[in-house]
Amino acid sequence: MNNQNSNNIIGFSESHSVPIDRDPQTLPFPLNCLVVCQNPTMRQDLSTYLAAVTNLKVDYCTTLDNNLKNHNLVIVLLDNNDQQVKSDIKAIAKHDIDFILVSDNISNDLIRTAVHFKVKEIISQQNLELELIHSLINASNELMQASKIAPLYTVINGKSGSGASFITSCLGEISANISNEEIAIIDADLNYGSLTDTFNFDANYYLTDALNELDKLDNTAIKSMMLKRDNLSLLACKPYTQLNTNPQTLGYLDQLVWKVKLNHDLVLVDLSRGVEKFTIPLLNLSSKILIVVQQNILSLRETKMLIQQLTQHLGIDVEKLHIIVNRYSTKNSNISLDDIKKVLGIDKLYVVSNNYQLANAGIDSGSPLLKVADHKAIQDEISQIIGDLFPIDIPVKTTLLNKIFRRL
Ligand SMILES: Nc1ncnc2c1ncn2[C@@H]1O[C@H](COP(=O)(O)OP(=O)(O)OP(=O)(O)O)[C@@H](O)[C@H]1O
Ligand SMILES: [Mg+2]
Repeated sequence: MNNQNSNNIIGFSESHSVPIDRDPQTLPFPLNCLVVCQNPTMRQDLSTYLAAVTNLKVDYCTTLDNNLKNHNLVIVLLDNNDQQVKSDIKAIAKHDIDFILVSDNISNDLIRTAVHFKVKEIISQQNLELELIHSLINASNELMQASKIAPLYTVINGKSGSGASFITSCLGEISANISNEEIAIIDADLNYGSLTDTFNFDANYYLTDALNELDKLDNTAIKSMMLKRDNLSLLACKPYTQLNTNPQTLGYLDQLVWKVKLNHDLVLVDLSRGVEKFTIPLLNLSSKILIVVQQNILSLRETKMLIQQLTQHLGIDVEKLHIIVNRYSTKNSNISLDDIKKVLGIDKLYVVSNNYQLANAGIDSGSPLLKVADHKAIQDEISQIIGDLFPIDIPVKTTLLNKIFRRL
């Protein structure tokens, strides 16, 4: 990370302008932090405090050595050895990593060196907890602004079987076909993950494998581990993942998703199972949530309850919600689109037609939509959703249809 903004926030952090979000202990962007601390009691206190901060990974060491790799912030708790700290500061600055000093009693000489090497903040030890969270949020915000982060769109079922997986796969495949952007799909159906079959991928690496080796997943690894066809990547999910995976491991899902966001242009999540404990962080990270419903009373009733959970219980902004009425037909239901808008209290609505051929052929074969001959209507409808909602560049519109058909 560069040090371009560091000059104006040296001092004892009275004037922090960064708003603290819903949860003051959650960083807006993941930080990998290294704490250099000689004193075991202070280290213990700090680690207890920092363990409660979400989106923060901390490594601890007593001497800097070669520990800097993969960290974007270093916190140095000062002892009495100024010479050592000076040499640490130089080593940190050489790697262009931001650093914070913690001390109640810092010499002028050391302050000069720290300022020269653009220290982010010098924090008083007495107020450490209060001041540190602000410093971490500041560092996290700066890092976020300097990074390219893909937005995450979640496709969630209003009621099981409504077509969330089908819609996710179509959105993913068509948006990858019509653009050069790197599109990632995460299969977050932790029970019946099915997208590997949909795309006919031969999976040998799954979401749980990625969670288990999260620390090793640098930018190159995260891309190479995903199943990939041209610019479309899939992070597959094994059936019965939830049952067979340690809950603590599943708790790292948001960290994994951040890595995917940092290495793609758009991330789509298939949340066929609706709201579940382990996948809530994905909903919180979503820029948009596309709720798939069908045109019947039961589906609308369950979807209404889902919307209540999302907005009232999870505090998700209703503006992020969009409805997709799947298997839409003007003939087979007397529930109109206006009825659906009224019942659900959401105006932003799209339709995807019913495709009888798909309903019959797709179930057993797991074929993606585009292999079904009569797919034009659905393809147009999905393209409409992409055009309206997805922040992707579509380079040459005239060749759009050619591109869509290029792999058929
Ligand atoms: N628009 C459509 N027209 C015809 N068939 C469809 C349509 N959308 C989905 N289907 C079919 O409905 C079945 C269920 O779809 P899908 O697996 O996408 O649902 P889901 O909501 O992900 O289900 P689950 O709750 O099991 O995860 C599939 O066989 C799929 O091919
Ligand atoms: Mg599904």
